[in-house]
Amino acid sequence: MEVEVEFIDEMINGYNRDKRAIVSMLQDIQDKYYYLPEDTLAYLSSAMEVPISLLYGFATFYRTFSLQPRGKHPISVCMGTACHVRGAGRIIEKIEREIDIKLGETSDDLLYSLDEVHCLGCCGLAPVVTVGDDLYGKITVTKIPGILKKYKTSKEEPVSQID
Ligand code: FES
Repeated sequence: MEVEVEFIDEMINGYNRDKRAIVSMLQDIQDKYYYLPEDTLAYLSSAMEVPISLLYGFATFYRTFSLQPRGKHPISVCMGTACHVRGAGRIIEKIEREIDIKLGETSDDLLYSLDEVHCLGCCGLAPVVTVGDDLYGKITVTKIPGILKKYKTSKEEPVSQID
């Protein structure tokens, strides 16, 4: 991917070139591309005169960042014990079929990525799925198509937090 120099330069200026804002800059890059492209990190490192190792350190420390292309709507299925016994495995299989990707993959249109997580801390709502910042509890296989449709047809519309 070609580095969008203008975007990066404007962003840096927006933070007054303040090195303390490096994590916020990484967040802005993640928000734009849904991951942290290697060439963009190299440019940021040089423009801000910070070691590239520092950027990779942040990129791997914070779960919010990804070094691999991710979907605009990252889907996480909880596979903690409570969710697992309430059918999270079937939920994953259904999502895989619906968007035609496997666990750990990103769809070709970069709309979705699918991962599993281990306990989101709301076991009473098991099984639990998150799509971006939205959380869906007591999910059943039959609810999956409707949930995914919300993100496909109205990307910018707010969605319910608990389905
Ligand atoms: S096991 Fe899924 S929320 Fe705790």
